[in-house]
Amino acid sequence: MHTLGRMNTTLVINSKGGAGKTTLATNLASALAVHGIHPAILDYDPQGSSLNWLRQRAPAAPRIHGANGAPPRTGLRSFALHVPATVSHLIIDAPAGASGVFLQGLLRRASAVLVPVQPSAIDVHATANFLRDLLLAGPLRSREVRLAVVANRVRRSSAVYQPLERFLASLGVPLLARLSDSDAYLEAAERGLGIFELDPSDSATERGQFLPIVRWAEPQLAPASVPNVLEFSRSGSVRALSPSP
Ligand SMILES: Nc1ncnc2c1ncn2[C@@H]1O[C@H](COP(=O)(O)OP(=O)(O)OP(=O)(O)O)[C@@H](O)[C@H]1O
Ligand SMILES: [Mg+2]
Repeated sequence: MHTLGRMNTTLVINSKGGAGKTTLATNLASALAVHGIHPAILDYDPQGSSLNWLRQRAPAAPRIHGANGAPPRTGLRSFALHVPATVSHLIIDAPAGASGVFLQGLLRRASAVLVPVQPSAIDVHATANFLRDLLLAGPLRSREVRLAVVANRVRRSSAVYQPLERFLASLGVPLLARLSDSDAYLEAAERGLGIFELDPSDSATERGQFLPIVRWAEPQLAPASVPNVLEFSRSGSVRALSPSP
């Protein structure tokens, strides 16, 4: 059994729906698994999107543990009873609109908070307000919880981020990565994989953009420890590819 309090826990959250929380959570889980870290996803998305993604995953793919956070009885305490001892990184896929006591509970559990934001004026505005609320919340103010923002579904030059960038700079919150709007995410998602498990020739740009998120979530992950990347064919066979960039 695990003591969740000691586990590296990345909370992926934004009050705004459709920002990319599940995409970030599943791709981070897959990237960690590929890099030899056994992750678990705790899915609070009411559609159960992360768990649905896990169900598509090839049995030969690196293991990711999944648990449903949605039913009220499945609190973090009972979840702890069911996490395999090999799990060393918990990723929480939060629902849109989390607030109040529930939000405080998620923040207390997290060691790092990752906020995806899409390049629309409405999303940027809503996210700025959400970040302000987060920083005022007790758990982020009173202890060492790292907070970072990821620009998601970036197309061309996104001038819309400039006010957000200024706001983040004033708060001292890093804009960790800019992920392009790419079919690679859709292609991977429908097979229960992440972009790090696709053919590198189809996903080199996306991997390069995503890597700072992986390193931020697991800072002790030395580049030298990055093993060969495995590719999972649709038939379920596995093949080692060149080392990831
Ligand atoms: N970088 C990207 N490139 C292409 N498609 C993306 C990208 N990021 C997210 N998407 C797509 O956008 C949609 C919304 O993303 P996602 O489900 O990750 O958001 P969410 O924040 O989890 O939404 P919800 O609030 O409903 O839980 C999905 O169809 C997803 O595949
Ligand atoms: Mg989701």
